[in-house]
Amino acid sequence: MAFTLEMARGALEKLNAVIEEKKDYLTDLDSAIGDADHGINMNRGMKRVMEKIRDKEYSDFGGLFRDVAMTIMSAVGGSAGPLYGTFFMKMGQKLAGKREVAEDEFADAMQEGLSGIMALGKSQLGDKTMVDALQPAIDALREPAPDASAAWAAALKAAEKGMEDTIPMLSKRGRSSYLGERSIGHQDPGATSVAYLIASLREAALEG
Ligand SMILES: Nc1ncnc2c1ncn2[C@@H]1O[C@H](COP(=O)(O)OP(=O)(O)OP(=O)(O)O)[C@@H](O)[C@H]1O
Ligand SMILES: [Mg+2]
Repeated sequence: MAFTLEMARGALEKLNAVIEEKKDYLTDLDSAIGDADHGINMNRGMKRVMEKIRDKEYSDFGGLFRDVAMTIMSAVGGSAGPLYGTFFMKMGQKLAGKREVAEDEFADAMQEGLSGIMALGKSQLGDKTMVDALQPAIDALREPAPDASAAWAAALKAAEKGMEDTIPMLSKRGRSSYLGERSIGHQDPGATSVAYLIASLREAALEG
């Protein structure tokens, strides 16, 4: 039961494809409570990531995730760029020198990345942000499971529930927080793109 460097690369390819497919939906979600750019931002960022990593050899997660982080940070402005960038940067630092880890070690690295997001964004669970999908997914991935397939299935289910749970929340961070009570009743775009990230990791992990 291990998550490999090749799986990480596969997951990024899948994320790029799903973001491309869902970019209008993400932007629609962001138009309800933000500035209608989350799909555009993520699409631009992931395309650049693929251009950067496609033909490059990596010897460890550290090098791959550092390139992903730097590319996202430079290609995506606003909040999501620095937040996603920090996530991948911290994950890469935690996994430096490794090209294969057990799922729980991968979950630890994701937790490190999430701590980076929360520190940068001054955000907490329940603020109606990407944190609300990411934390439950990591917690679920850490739970003892019979195999990797079950662990990733639980993580995806938790991410999707976390994403849906943002609907009734009152936003406390980002542009949507300016809406106050009017942010209630809408799904957070960042929590939605995080659910796609977890779905992509799961698919890549299952394909092996
Ligand atoms: N302080 C924060 N902490 C964690 N996540 C945040 C924070 N601010 C925004 N987000 C996440 O970023 C998403 C918006 O990303 P987007 O690509 O639209 O960037 P943006 O328009 O610059 O963001 P915003 O207008 O919310 O500051 C939100 O849906 C939310 O999940
Ligand atoms: Mg936006």
